[in-house]
Parts: sequence; C-alpha cells; structure tokens
Amino acid sequence: MKSILLAAFGTSVPEAAGAVGNLVSETKAAFPGLDVRLAYTSNIIRRKLKRERNVEIPSPPEALAKMNDEGFTHVYVQPMHVIPGAEYDDLKSVTEAFASIKGKYGFARVVLGRPFLTDSHDCDVMAGILARRFGKFPADRGVALMGHGSCHEAGAMYAEMQNALSRVTERVFIGTAEGEPSFSDVLAALERTRLKAVVLSPFMVTAGEHARNDLAGDGPDSWMSLFKKNGYEVETDLTGLGEYPEAASLFVERVRELVK
Ligand code: CO
Repeated sequence: MKSILLAAFGTSVPEAAGAVGNLVSETKAAFPGLDVRLAYTSNIIRRKLKRERNVEIPSPPEALAKMNDEGFTHVYVQPMHVIPGAEYDDLKSVTEAFASIKGKYGFARVVLGRPFLTDSHDCDVMAGILARRFGKFPADRGVALMGHGSCHEAGAMYAEMQNALSRVTERVFIGTAEGEPSFSDVLAALERTRLKAVVLSPFMVTAGEHARNDLAGDGPDSWMSLFKKNGYEVETDLTGLGEYPEAASLFVERVRELVK
C-alpha cells in the first residue's frame, strides 16, 4: 500500500487554504491510484485551527504514525515549502526517523521530496513562471513579490531567485517578510525602473497572514503603506503560488520525481 503525504506549512486564513487544497487536488488527479493526504508542519497553525475552528490537521509525525497503523508500506513525503529552510529540516528529520524504524512499526520505504527552490536551475524555472504570470500586467507597472525569508542558509535562495528574475524580466522584484532581500532592496530596484505603479503579490504557497498583513495590510510597516508613502500607485494580487496553474504543475512534477 502506497501513499503520498503532502506537507504544507499551513495557514489559519480560510480564504488562503484553497491554495493548499488546489495542490492536494492536482496531486490526487495526477496519481489516481495512490492515497494522498495532507499534514501541516506548523504546530502554531495546527493548534490555532484546532482551538478556534475545531479543525484538525495532523503534524507530519502524527500522519506517518497513523499511516503505519493503517498498513501503508510506502510513503512519499512531498513538502509544499518554497525553500529548504528550517521547516524542511524538521520534516527531513522526522522522515529519516521513520525511515530508520525496523520491524512492524516501520515502513518498507519512506522518502522525502524537494521543495520548489533548491538550486539555480529551479530558480530559472520559477522565474519563467513568474515572468509569464506577471507579464500579463500592463507594462507601466512593476511587480513586488514578498517571499517569506529565512535566516537559515537556504534563505540565500531568494537572492538567487532575484538573479533568475533579472535574466528574464526587468520589472519583477522579490523581497521577503522576514529576511533578505528586504523591502528597501525591492524599493531601490523599483526606483531604478522609474515606474510609478506597483503590483504587490505574495511569493508563498498561500496568500495567508503575511500576504494580508505585512504585504497588503494598512499598518504603517506594510509594503502597501511603504510604497504609497514613496509615491507609488499600488495594486494587489493576493494569489498564492499554490493557485497558479503553472506552479501547481511544477509541484506535481516534484511529486512525480519522488514517486517514480
Ligand atoms: Co512567518
């Protein structure tokens, strides 16, 4: 018995959960013979969902233990994360722990897939997706994408992503909510284009809390407020990566690499 376990960071914003749901349903459609399930890697989100809405989504170890109990022998764990940062490391640790279990509580095979961005080739592929997606906006607007950001060494992937974007488009820039590049880097890059209007969009699987508050919120430190303060006309496109058809196909490719 084989199963695919999709592991998302998770979101407590109901309107944003559709992006995760889309990746789950695309995976189910691509692998009709396999059981497909979902876990959230964020304990904070899982506990908040349970407390506030009585929604229970398992953690990866919980899901794996249950799958073992149900008799699954092969599990393909596919992260829905953008970079291989701290959340990925934790997922790797739990996957390896289950892989090391021998006897009846272990699986014949349990393996972990890779996130969206692990090297410069991945960044080039993603840059193509972003350039096509945002190329549809009128040419008088720049695009500022907000990634999550990380102080983990994998946080360098965002700078790599900017390099990849710069090779294919002159008006799409990436910054992060919690790391480098920062808002000032994105602003400086936009200033050089001399464009006076900007589209704000998340570069995260879901358009959750960060997208709604840090990016498009009306607090004084949101990118929306900061761009307005700098004289920009601002428009928002709160669509998570999980909702872009091309990113969803790329995700399904990741699962395919893992399952074959
Ligand atoms: Co965060």
